[in-house]
Amino acid sequence: MSSSSTSSDSAVVSEIEEFAADVAAGLSRAAKTLPSKYFYDQRGSQLFDQICELPEYYPTRTELGIMQQYADEMGRQIGSGAMVIEFGSGSSVKTRILLDHLVDPAAYVPVDVSYEHLHATARQLTKAYPGLDILPVCADFTRPFDLPAASQLETHDAVYFPGSTIGNFEQADALGLLEHIVSLCGSGGGLLVGIDLQKDVDVLEAAYNDAQGVTAEFNLNLLHRINRQLEGDVQVDQFRHQAVYNHEIGRIEMYLISKVDQAATIRGDQYTFAAGERICTEYSHKYTVESFAKMAESAGLTLRRQWLDDEEYFAVLHLALLD
Ligand code: SAH
Ligand code: AVI
Repeated sequence: MSSSSTSSDSAVVSEIEEFAADVAAGLSRAAKTLPSKYFYDQRGSQLFDQICELPEYYPTRTELGIMQQYADEMGRQIGSGAMVIEFGSGSSVKTRILLDHLVDPAAYVPVDVSYEHLHATARQLTKAYPGLDILPVCADFTRPFDLPAASQLETHDAVYFPGSTIGNFEQADALGLLEHIVSLCGSGGGLLVGIDLQKDVDVLEAAYNDAQGVTAEFNLNLLHRINRQLEGDVQVDQFRHQAVYNHEIGRIEMYLISKVDQAATIRGDQYTFAAGERICTEYSHKYTVESFAKMAESAGLTLRRQWLDDEEYFAVLHLALLD
């Protein structure tokens, strides 16, 4: 790297190196995997926003409805003077409803891996909320990251984690994430989290196999990203999308399935794919309020309030640190 490179140049380089290492590790396994966080490059974040508008994808509009109905109660639960830290902020659409109901928030800190999308969203929010510090942090929220300093008086930290993004983690990792949130918030802090609930398998599978094929494009974009960023020659049209519900574990599982026997070169290394072989790209766990509250309890969080839609498709929970 040249001596005039900036710290953000080196951040991009290390992010791509990490992507390369994770892809090499995931595709070298007997059961191939790719981490779901890599869905979200600029194109992936745009596709996710399109998913949120799909008739079959009930989670976003259901959670938005819950926010619209109960945000004033949520604002009171969080309390005044909070620095609100959002994990996986995306387009921060639900956040606007929350921000509109918070009492004297100290700052809003959107945290996301999708760099361009995060900063574009933060610019829009800065215009929409001129009196509030909007302090974006591009980071992987599963790892420690530094919180920015608010210019206004901050009484406590509150983590907002909507979208059921926590459902994309397996139990042990979700628990680790909750423990990370506890250590980030410290005493007086709390968590407002959205979780997708167990429901009829047809509703679940339709949400991840939409008729317009946007979820398929979102899934396949991971292979395009490998080609774009890792000098790959993956024949993307020789893979297809699959999403199925695993009844035993209670989760949607997304795969990319090789249509034929084929090989691909990525960063000079060759990978083979048999016809019908699957690459697992995402889990999306579906909870009950009780099962989630039990997991949160072991991380040191206690359930204070819950808000559900009439069909009980989705829940927003407020949890506080145990004294
Ligand atoms: N909160 C929004 C967006 C959810 S989509 C909503 O509720 O609609 C999930 C978001 O989490 C994406 O924007 C993605 O870029 C981000 N994300 C996924 N894994 C991440 C990780 N490990 N660290 C930081 N951000 C992550
Ligand atoms: C971000 N996350 C909660 C979404 C989900 O429903 O698991 C990602 C997604 N994958 C396919 N469609 C949407």
